[in-house]
Amino acid sequence: MKLSFKIFPTVLFLGGLAGTSGFAQAPPASLKGFPVPEPDLVAMGIAKPGAAAKLALQQLGKALYWDMQAGSDGRTACASCHFHAGADHRDKNQRNPGHDGVFSEHEGANSTVKTSDFPLHHLAVKDDRHSHVVSDTNDRVSSQGVFRSDFLDIVAGNAVDSANFAIDDTPFRVAGVNVRRVEPRNTPTVINAVFNRDNFWDGRADFCFNGSNPRGPSGTTNIIKMVGQTPRQQGPAPICIPFSSLASQAVGPPLSAFEMSAAGRNWRKVGEKLLHLPALAPQRVDPTDSLLGPLVPASGPGLTTTYRALIQAAFDPDYWDDPQEHSFRRQRKRSGNWHAREREPVHVDGVQLLAVLGACHPEV
Ligand code: HEC
Repeated sequence: MKLSFKIFPTVLFLGGLAGTSGFAQAPPASLKGFPVPEPDLVAMGIAKPGAAAKLALQQLGKALYWDMQAGSDGRTACASCHFHAGADHRDKNQRNPGHDGVFSEHEGANSTVKTSDFPLHHLAVKDDRHSHVVSDTNDRVSSQGVFRSDFLDIVAGNAVDSANFAIDDTPFRVAGVNVRRVEPRNTPTVINAVFNRDNFWDGRADFCFNGSNPRGPSGTTNIIKMVGQTPRQQGPAPICIPFSSLASQAVGPPLSAFEMSAAGRNWRKVGEKLLHLPALAPQRVDPTDSLLGPLVPASGPGLTTTYRALIQAAFDPDYWDDPQEHSFRRQRKRSGNWHAREREPVHVDGVQLLAVLGACHPEV
């Protein structure tokens, strides 16, 4: 259960480059202790001030990252695919067929990846791209997520969502039986991802978190709603929480029908489910864990706290307390600003914003 975002793989990698470049350069300094760029959530009125609130935010994020209950199947956590040095070292059923949707003839769904499968693009002379291509495939080696299903509803007090599985999910199918679906891109490590300005291979998890999806300022958000006089001044307001590419990233997987979700699940349902389940209920947590250790019960699995309690300890009451929500609205209107902002009824929807901010907190 220990995960540090500040350890050495990046340094090793950079060090390796320096070593082979032919230039006599001093190795780059260690990132250990390097200040993590982060937004001032307290100044933005999102998080509560104080060390206890910050600790709760970090604990919330770490618990969510590891909690298998976040997946529709009650088994798939973020960490399922980022378990080993922040990446994935499972070798069975880790192939995606690529953009043609067809597996290479000898390695299909549910096969085991072998050392001899690499490199996928095999050149006769590995550093000469003009050399003869010995073998090639557009299959990808990635991470298995959930079985294909259509979301029906959550089941009160149950980590497993109700869903329809009676779907032919070819090509993720062997002898008439579906297998877990596999992502179309390789899974990078999350270690040191906090230092990436944007995340994902294509950088689409934006530096600015809009409270809703990975796309940053260009994406719409349903968290803050403008209530101005003209149609242009009404509707979702763009918000930007800077230095939060990890939050932008984290709103992807929990609703992805490849990664963690039955197709058609929404954030309200994710929040509603998690708020009614004990945090990490089916999992045993190491009592020496840097953040969660103090919350480990004397015996048995899970934590001695709930997501509700952690959210209330970490976040400004505006985000979870109804009466405060109203006073927030009045306060903004009094300021005379044309784009007085009214938060939509948050309740469990708010968990989306809260969860991802917590989930991606740099110290987690
Ligand atoms: C089914 C496997 C799977 C699950 C579950 C999963 N991820 Fe990932 N993760 C991936 C893959 C694949 C990518 C690369 C996707 C891309 O670049 O398009 C990725 C990329 C990332 C990155 C970007 C790292 C970089 O260097 O760009 C981070 C950070 C990350 N995931 C964190 C998370 C978090 C947090 C969760 C849970 C909310 C999560 N992942 C759930 C497979 C998974």
